[in-house]
Amino acid sequence: MNAPTSVTVRVPAKVNLRLAVGPVRGDGYHGLVNVFHAVSLYDEVTVSPRSDLAPGQAVLSVDGERPDHVARVPLDDSNLAARAAALLARHVPHATGVHIHVHKAIPVAGGMAGGSADAAAALVACDALWEGDTPRERLLELAAELGSDVAFPLIGCTAVGTGRGEQLSPLPVQGTFHWVFALVDGGLSTTKVFAEYDRLRPDAPEPTLDDALVAALAAGDARRLGAALTNDLQPAALALRPELGDLLEAGRAAGALGALVSGSGPTCAFLAESADHARELAAALRASGTCADTVTAHGPVPGATVV
Ligand code: C5P
Repeated sequence: MNAPTSVTVRVPAKVNLRLAVGPVRGDGYHGLVNVFHAVSLYDEVTVSPRSDLAPGQAVLSVDGERPDHVARVPLDDSNLAARAAALLARHVPHATGVHIHVHKAIPVAGGMAGGSADAAAALVACDALWEGDTPRERLLELAAELGSDVAFPLIGCTAVGTGRGEQLSPLPVQGTFHWVFALVDGGLSTTKVFAEYDRLRPDAPEPTLDDALVAALAAGDARRLGAALTNDLQPAALALRPELGDLLEAGRAAGALGALVSGSGPTCAFLAESADHARELAAALRASGTCADTVTAHGPVPGATVV
């Protein structure tokens, strides 16, 4: 069989249903208990060979419907998808140079792990392009080397991440949950949000999982899930972007079952009762004037998939 001429991988965004953050560790990272939930908001990453580049070297291009988000994606070697290609190239025999094209739908620097998702997609896409047949366990290890949130989009669905968030174990979920994500202008730096967290919580306790959250997911109970959503980074994100408080309040007032900052923000997530309720909630949020736009999505969905 001939090697493929290009490979496209579709990869989901995540929302954290619980983000419990412990004290800062010796390596500068925080111990986490992080419940990741993959939602139906996807980036598409296409890789094609470039014979003029060294193995593992990448050139990037990006497009998408939101020019302000597209403009925030780095196109140099600091892009995590380019680093993913370079890392994998050191572990497979037939690596080439690549063009990586990202079609963006996941908010950039929004707390939905879009950059990490693209890196996970680039690993899967390059492995298929280079016919690496890298075992899944190995891809997960390489993903964890790239960043704390890169392994999860490989598996998708719903999972608990411990350690710095990269040690994953899947959680059972019944049914589908419906979400509204409210986008605001500008991004937030994950590093700065964690630094603000350290300032606000110098005495953070060890992070734990919450039985009520696990039970709500297993039962497919959106009301109980809404009540169990928590994010320890939220006070830090609100300290840096106080206007997010009004956005969360607007969602609660409009009947969201739960409202929280997604990851390190500034995107905010709202849980709805149904797909119809999600559309109503989205309209109410847009009308409130507290966000730039909204997107609706459902979860859980599977991880990175070749299309
Ligand atoms: O691992 P990743 O590069 O995605 O992390 C980005 C930043 O988020 C880190 O540089 C660190 O400041 C912060 N972080 C942390 N503890 C974690 C994960 C991330 O402090 N468990």
